[in-house]
Amino acid sequence: MAHNQIQEALQWRYATKKYDAIKKISAQDWKTLTDSLSLAPSSYGLQPWKFLVIENPEVREKLKAASWNQTQITDASHLVVFLAREKVDVDFVQKYINRVAEVRGLPLEALDGYKNMMIENVAKSPTSTQWAQRQTYIAMGFLLETAALLKVDATPMEGFDPQAYDKILGLENSGWKTTVVTALGYRHAEDTTQNFKKVRFTDETLIQYVK
Ligand SMILES: Cc1cc2nc3c(=O)[nH]c(=O)nc-3n(C[C@H](O)[C@H](O)[C@H](O)COP(=O)(O)O)c2cc1C
Repeated sequence: MAHNQIQEALQWRYATKKYDAIKKISAQDWKTLTDSLSLAPSSYGLQPWKFLVIENPEVREKLKAASWNQTQITDASHLVVFLAREKVDVDFVQKYINRVAEVRGLPLEALDGYKNMMIENVAKSPTSTQWAQRQTYIAMGFLLETAALLKVDATPMEGFDPQAYDKILGLENSGWKTTVVTALGYRHAEDTTQNFKKVRFTDETLIQYVK
């Protein structure tokens, strides 16, 4: 892809405020968007996340009420709720190790060192919950960028009550917690936000070279 196409997509995207509820994301675009989630990097590759795609309109209505009534929640074509592992414990590390062994055709013993490192650094860490939450934002970043490249509109969203989400989605005692949300679809012609100039600090302020 040419540089100018990427730059144009980055300028084109904006946090969409109003969606055209009629327009839906195609199955092909959606597959590429979900690939951007499953192929996103995470620390150690542990993937302490899950992505709920909320299709049920009644559930969406309930979530909107828990999201300052932001209309993106109900009107966007697709809604992704990002979940993080509440505790990245030894069991979860083992699950991942089993998957590595399966995919790469390795004996479990060959992965003992890797496993113990993750247990020491993550599972035993008092901040594993926050660590898992941070990982979900990486996946969201991948989703947002991929959406822009496909000319699919998106809104990253933190304007909601995560505890109310956990309740509505039946996540209590599940080991998963809501962290962040992304609405995806197509901008409404009347969304005036699309014409706003982007406000960013200058490159000189943001990007500093240490020589
Ligand atoms: C983590 C995060 C949470 C956000 N939450 C909301 C939200 O709840 N509702 C909303 O309309 N925009 C939300 N935004 C959008 C930001 O306000 C927007 O990205 C920022 O103002 C920059 O504008 P731009 O994305 O249009 O370039 C959020 C953005 C991020 C990254």
